[in-house]
Amino acid sequence: MKRECYPIYNTFGIDAKARLYVEYGSEDELLALLPELSAASRLLHVGGGSNLLFTSDFDGVVLHSGIRSIEVVGEDDDFVLLRVGAGVVWDDFVAHCVAHGWSGVENLSLIPGEVGASAVQNIGAYGVEAKDVIVSVETIGLRTACRRVFQNEECRYGYRQSVFKQELRGQYAVTYVTYRLSKHFVPHLDYGNIRAELADAEPLTPQHVRDAVIRIRQHKLPDPAVQGNAGSFFMNPVVSREKFESLQAAYPQIPHYDAPDGVKIPAGWLIEQCGWKGRAEGRAAVHDRQALVLVNLGGATGADILHLSAVVCDAVWQKFGIRIHPEVNVI
Ligand code: EPU
Repeated sequence: MKRECYPIYNTFGIDAKARLYVEYGSEDELLALLPELSAASRLLHVGGGSNLLFTSDFDGVVLHSGIRSIEVVGEDDDFVLLRVGAGVVWDDFVAHCVAHGWSGVENLSLIPGEVGASAVQNIGAYGVEAKDVIVSVETIGLRTACRRVFQNEECRYGYRQSVFKQELRGQYAVTYVTYRLSKHFVPHLDYGNIRAELADAEPLTPQHVRDAVIRIRQHKLPDPAVQGNAGSFFMNPVVSREKFESLQAAYPQIPHYDAPDGVKIPAGWLIEQCGWKGRAEGRAAVHDRQALVLVNLGGATGADILHLSAVVCDAVWQKFGIRIHPEVNVI
């Protein structure tokens, strides 16, 4: 499908149009299109539009995958390998796994977006990240029109990071992701209030965990269909142990998690302490139940959201001396 001057779907509900919008249904279709598209234009590959903030129309070609297959490509007594098209809605994939009794992604229930983005963003929630179940990522080079498969280690995954967001940013379209799910349920219940939410589920199944995660998310996070947003707007900052100790002396209740390179502090907590939770600046606001989320109150532009983001970052810097950075991709 090819459309000119076409609105780009984004969960922030910002009006933005692509000069040309192209959805392809197979690798061969993408390979056939690339020479013509990449010669002339800027290219932007999008997924479900749940992590994008547009500050203007996009004067180029927006690509979207319509590859939506889920196939079992290997299995033994313990594990199943699933090769999944990049255009599959992420939560449909989670529901598919849970319905078959395969575990590994149930904690990632209800995250907006598509399978391709799970491998780019290394989506994560409630103690689990996509990298824990990704085996390999199949791609096509947007400038080279060559296929390339990245094994998990080559993706260089970190907290909300991958090689596809860093050195190779914008260079590859993800076509398929292969995940390894477990046939034996290993629950991950140590994050936050998941265990409490599951109090009387016995015996525990991936479906129980999925239901609990859905309840928690629906309670805390705004539904983009009702109020435009892109989930967490900021990443949680990691500070040095010395910095953390001085903060903890001043704020003994400060929530924190150990991270490989220091101590991770929830940005939502920092923003709330600055008095910004629930506050609006024009048509953009900080969500009233999770301060990490910025929302479009209706009719906000990308510039309105960016302005609020800058004001909030500045408030956190002034009060705590910590820089917080957007997680969303600003286009
Ligand atoms: N907190 C506050 N005030 C707030 C928000 C949070 O004090 O307004 C405190 C909470 O009380 C808790 C701590 O911060 O002690 C952590 O809060 P929460 O469990 O809600 O998680 P988070 O660190 O704010 C991260 C992810 C979310 C993910 C949750 C659960 C990032 C940037 N965000 O948020 O991801 O759902 O953990 O795992 O890492 C997303 O990426 O869009 C997203 C929603």
